[in-house]
Amino acid sequence: MSVANLAYIHISETEQGSWSNFGANILGLMPIERPDFNDHSFLKMDDAPFRILVSTAEQGQMLGCGWDMGSKENYQAMIAKLEAANATVTAGDAQGAKLRCVTEYASSNDPSGNPFEIFYGRTTTAECDVPFVSPVGIDKFVTGDMGLGHAVIPAPLTAETHAFYIDTMGFGMSDDLRMPPPADGAPELRIIFMHASNSRHHSLALANFPHPVGIVHMMFEVTSIDEVGACLDRVNQANVPIMSTLGRHCNDNMLSFYSVGPGGIAVEFGYDGLQIDDWSQFPPTESTEGDFWGHAYQPMPT
Ligand SMILES: [Fe+2]
Repeated sequence: MSVANLAYIHISETEQGSWSNFGANILGLMPIERPDFNDHSFLKMDDAPFRILVSTAEQGQMLGCGWDMGSKENYQAMIAKLEAANATVTAGDAQGAKLRCVTEYASSNDPSGNPFEIFYGRTTTAECDVPFVSPVGIDKFVTGDMGLGHAVIPAPLTAETHAFYIDTMGFGMSDDLRMPPPADGAPELRIIFMHASNSRHHSLALANFPHPVGIVHMMFEVTSIDEVGACLDRVNQANVPIMSTLGRHCNDNMLSFYSVGPGGIAVEFGYDGLQIDDWSQFPPTESTEGDFWGHAYQPMPT
């Protein structure tokens, strides 16, 4: 029993509609309006009812990664495992389940304090049950059984948080990236990449530093380099801040760039990510380099 995939991410925005605009016009996601939840925004990227859930708050923040447990049995077993590990598990109510388009869900936090949710049974609504049509003409995103993409979250309590996701949540190791400490005495940069029960190289990664918005980035994957380039054009035309230039990662082979969405929530937009069909034949790797080329990190506007 382990997590099937990353089904949705719940974030917040200070100005309602800013993420719908960014998601639609820059990333090519499809905004969905739900009259019964008109204080929220929903962004669809495939057949799932939505992949990004947006609430309004005082600041942009990651409010929860939504992990699909795949079945009621797995869901209940995971709650028992979380409770046995002394995690606080809060059962979601019917209204919350309706908002998330899930049958049943529960909320918890990892040892670094990152909020997450587990659920089973994706449901839908009349508004959400429509074919995905990208406002900018993207044919499809790479999703399905592999979930929406991946999330990299801050884990200052790195060892405890890593152990939690492996031992309690049942993730598997993909890569342990440790960048040698720079000469100026700054701490080592470490990012731990883990996979769920699907072929995406990593659905979750833990960074060994804190982050003000609770998520280092989230990643969406398209099917061609041309869609990555077209998104980069839209980013530049709209003067969206670039966090990292185009590059190709060593561990998951992703060719991507990073921009910064509303509220400081960064998005990696890429293609050609590595898929592993049989994890039993994949020895986890240890890396000291993040990129084959590119991915130059840019100073952020203040
Ligand atoms: Fe990434």
